[in-house]
Amino acid sequence: MNDATFAAAAPEFPSTADVLARAAAHAPGLWSPDVVFVRGEGARLFDADGRRYLDGMAGIAVASVGHGNARLADAIAAQARRLIVCPQNLGNDVRTAFVDKLFEHLPAPLSRVFLANSGAEVNEAALKWSRVATGRRRVVAAKRGFAGRTLGALAMTWEVKYREPFEPLSVPVDFVRYDDLDELDAAVGDDTAMIWLEPVQGEGGVHPASAAYLRRARELADERGALLAFDEIQCGVGRTGRFLASEHAGVVPDLVTLAKGLAGGVPIGALAMTDAVAAAMPAGGHGTTFGGNPLAAAAGLAVLEEIEARDLMAHAERMGRRFREGIEALGSPRVREVRGLGLMLGVELKEKAAPVIAALRDEGLLLINAGASVIRFVPPLVIGEDEVDEALAAFGRVLRR
Ligand SMILES: Cc1ncc(COP(=O)(O)O)c(C=O)c1O
Repeated sequence: MNDATFAAAAPEFPSTADVLARAAAHAPGLWSPDVVFVRGEGARLFDADGRRYLDGMAGIAVASVGHGNARLADAIAAQARRLIVCPQNLGNDVRTAFVDKLFEHLPAPLSRVFLANSGAEVNEAALKWSRVATGRRRVVAAKRGFAGRTLGALAMTWEVKYREPFEPLSVPVDFVRYDDLDELDAAVGDDTAMIWLEPVQGEGGVHPASAAYLRRARELADERGALLAFDEIQCGVGRTGRFLASEHAGVVPDLVTLAKGLAGGVPIGALAMTDAVAAAMPAGGHGTTFGGNPLAAAAGLAVLEEIEARDLMAHAERMGRRFREGIEALGSPRVREVRGLGLMLGVELKEKAAPVIAALRDEGLLLINAGASVIRFVPPLVIGEDEVDEALAAFGRVLRR
């Protein structure tokens, strides 16, 4: 740690120990935080002791346009003063502006959208729409996939420790090896409602699918009367250098789910689908109280405008390449592979990731794992060249130890 790593202490905030002790008294027992963040600026975070960090995780691919983004903050503040509540059975100007802007970035024939509040929620919605549109029950999903923690999404989630304690789960899922064309071919049958895939698996270790795999999934769905659903909750909204990661393969699904970065941190989820899929749901067949609320819509619109104004997709592609090449140039024998697309990258180690992540945090770089041995790099899309270089320098120092 050097002096530049630390900003002046921030006396206006309560102490780390105080916040953590009070938080522990009411926490559900799922986590044990040891740091308290109080402020962010671009790709920087500041803790309660005034220490400055480079944010390489963005709340797990959420803070797409950076922390404290002026356009986003102003849009939220202005909308909060104007109108926060307006359910989707009533029209709203900003919701419509957001949806119009969203479809400027989504490929045809995707033309309809259901708005909700989280990733799991829109994957649940995709399940319901796929069943009602096909009259079928089953889902084909990939091993290592992650769809969320609610019971339907959990059924499509591979990790046994997330799933098993909550079984039986009501959705029958056939799991296949990711990126294996033959297994996919063998699994899609008469009762497959949808093939559900992440074009780049996130939680499962940052694995991009081959273009051939996604194309074959499209063909199989068409040949066998199933729907193709892509979960772009983590890889979508420009993170890979294209609005949808599946654009790299030129494959358009029947349903696509977005969340995380879509409103820059304000809770949101979106299920986009074709006319034919949308039309299958009877009026009133699905819904949510908060979905499409004007506050989240204003945030989503501001995020999309910011991505356009700053050309953040091209920037993500450049910064991702810089980081990847930088890690490769370190030539560390402790690194097995660097993979991913744009600013969705995984550094796979030949050892456990957790101690290396802890050492990197001591160097002022905040990261998260993706499985036992993969360090995930999913920073705000606004991360600058100097900041990428700073992250690389931290990796260099830690990996040389
Ligand atoms: C690919 C993917 N799908 C779904 C989800 C679930 O989203 P949420 O946590 O908003 O429910 C996640 C969250 O990490 C994800 O990465």
